Amino acid sequence: MDENTGDDGEMVGLEVTACERCPTLVDSRSQIVNGTGPADADVLFVGEGPGATEDERGEPFVGRSGSVLDEQLMTVGLDRETVRITNCVRCRPPDNRDPTREELTNCRGYLETEIERLNPDVIVTLGKVPSEHLLERSVAVTKETGTVEDVRIGEKTKRVLICLHPAATLYDRSQTDAFLETLETAADLAGVDEAGPRSQGQTRLDGY
Ligand code: URA
Repeated sequence: MDENTGDDGEMVGLEVTACERCPTLVDSRSQIVNGTGPADADVLFVGEGPGATEDERGEPFVGRSGSVLDEQLMTVGLDRETVRITNCVRCRPPDNRDPTREELTNCRGYLETEIERLNPDVIVTLGKVPSEHLLERSVAVTKETGTVEDVRIGEKTKRVLICLHPAATLYDRSQTDAFLETLETAADLAGVDEAGPRSQGQTRLDGY
């Protein structure tokens, strides 16, 4: 049996359909917020966990941070519809606190399964929590944004690109250039074609 399917959790394809592993999050969530985007996307963005808007709408990065992400993806010629976006934990922590170590561990198998089934060319960690969770070391995101590391995740070694959280550019406008450069690197690593759609892979919007 799939290790992510049991009495306390159920995963179908890339989606968790039921989970009761974290009692506090079961109380605080309105719904489970799964990743969005194509099941064969070349780029996977990983955030920390859903905020209030994501919890309400059932989609990751649809609040203020999501608007920044969408806008800057456009700036580098990436279309949100062609990338996949998910979170380390799929249920909203109360009062927007960081997920605990236990909550991260409880949700880890779902993330690993999503990564394994998607098999992206590059995983982009948005902010400190996902960067440290996947790299399993402390990360100074402001200094290390744009850095690529090969990391063992589940059964495979995957390419991880450390990136600032989009909200960091709202608090400090001077971080926008570094954020954009990191997104450019993500597009390059995924072999996104600036000239237009490729037959199978990611598309990079032409002329934006
Ligand atoms: N911040 C995150 O890390 N994830 C979201 O889904 C939204 C904001």
